[in-house]
Amino acid sequence: MKRATFASNIGIILATAGSAVGLGNIWRFPYMLGSNGGAAFLLVYIVCILIMGLPVMLSEFYIGRRSHSNVKGAFTKLAPGTKWNLFGFIGVSCAVMILGFYSVVAGWTLEYIMQAFTGSLAGKSAAEFTSEFDLFSTSLVRPLIWTVVFILLTHFITASGVQKGIERASKVMMPMLFIILIALCVRSVTLEGARSGLDFLFHPDFSKVTSSSFLSAMGQAFFSLSIGMGTMITYSSYFTSKTNLQNTALQVTIIDTIVAVLAGIMIFPAAFTFGIRPEAGPQLVFITLPNVFERLPLGNVWSCVFFILLALAALTSTISMHEVATAYMEEEHKMSRKKGAWIVTGICIVLGILSSLSMGLLSGYTIGGLNFFNLLDFVTAKILLPAGGMLICIFIGRFVKRKDLLEEMTNQGTVRFYLFSTFYFLVRYVAPIAIALIFLNELGLLKKFIG
Ligand code: TRP
Repeated sequence: MKRATFASNIGIILATAGSAVGLGNIWRFPYMLGSNGGAAFLLVYIVCILIMGLPVMLSEFYIGRRSHSNVKGAFTKLAPGTKWNLFGFIGVSCAVMILGFYSVVAGWTLEYIMQAFTGSLAGKSAAEFTSEFDLFSTSLVRPLIWTVVFILLTHFITASGVQKGIERASKVMMPMLFIILIALCVRSVTLEGARSGLDFLFHPDFSKVTSSSFLSAMGQAFFSLSIGMGTMITYSSYFTSKTNLQNTALQVTIIDTIVAVLAGIMIFPAAFTFGIRPEAGPQLVFITLPNVFERLPLGNVWSCVFFILLALAALTSTISMHEVATAYMEEEHKMSRKKGAWIVTGICIVLGILSSLSMGLLSGYTIGGLNFFNLLDFVTAKILLPAGGMLICIFIGRFVKRKDLLEEMTNQGTVRFYLFSTFYFLVRYVAPIAIALIFLNELGLLKKFIG
């Protein structure tokens, strides 16, 4: 049987950018930035994107398109007879773990869409928004139902296939997302507190950067670009022989970074206008924006539109994680796409339920002070993704022949890659060393050695 590919170049960009742009940009980035001092974090983040993000994404594109396989099969093909295909195991586990906590937050967006739609957000004070959010997110049944609904939505898109499911959904949802985002930014910068919000976002205060901000920024970069565990390997395995890998990586990275900055532009002016602290943590966007919108004319409409934006962004990302595991099931365990997708969905539902319950009922069960939800977030974003990124760099920089790399990146010599040497240098030295240093720094070892 012929293996699936995406049908068009625009489909490739939208699906890949759809994977990258998600709750990571609109929910996670603003609160990470908020609790790590603002603009200075943005700078560290951008450096991480340039020296690690881009090279790792391009490396994943090489692995995916060269092999036309799922995460495990890719390494079996490119490095036969080695242990490299164990990477498939990291990739698939990471995919279901991220889906496990991500779909809880995605589920919250559905609840808020409904509340905005039925007008029940109207007329609440800032304190009420906070307490209602806490009440809802720690309750037993509703968040669970929404989590499961979101996983099922994801399921039906991926089960419908690469072109009919993923590509088609991305082509509809991504343009909607851009339009909504721009409208909301315009709304936000015309608020009273816009100046202090934008200052917070763009005027760095380096005294606020702590040593663990580096790990947070690196984790955020990997998370936001969907790299380090094979999502980009899986998607690029559906690219065509004509896809220009460098341009695609650059475009997707630029889109992802712009959306994160726009999300900041949308959220901080709103937060400052109504005196909500940027350090509010994971609930930041769930309390800030409805609180602001509900005070404006047509408040329900704005709130509703905002949560639709979050849901769309989340869905184009959850399908990419689901696809990593589904493609693996289908190809490595030789089952139908539908059956593979159901197994993945089943596992995700179990993890999703556990992480939703860990906000309330199971909040007493912690490991290292983290509940299940935070544990999944911490282990994936701050450990597995950067570690996976490092392995990818080692694979590309030490294992793959330079000639093969150049051949694939230039589509057999038909397009030019002016910055190839820069890319190669980043992958071989800069990115893996930077990742290692940040890990060591977090463990406190670096301080011991230096001083
Ligand atoms: N990048 C997405 C976001 O920002 C989430 C995501 C999709 C992801 N696929 C991934 C994160 C793979 C890590 C790894 O929301």
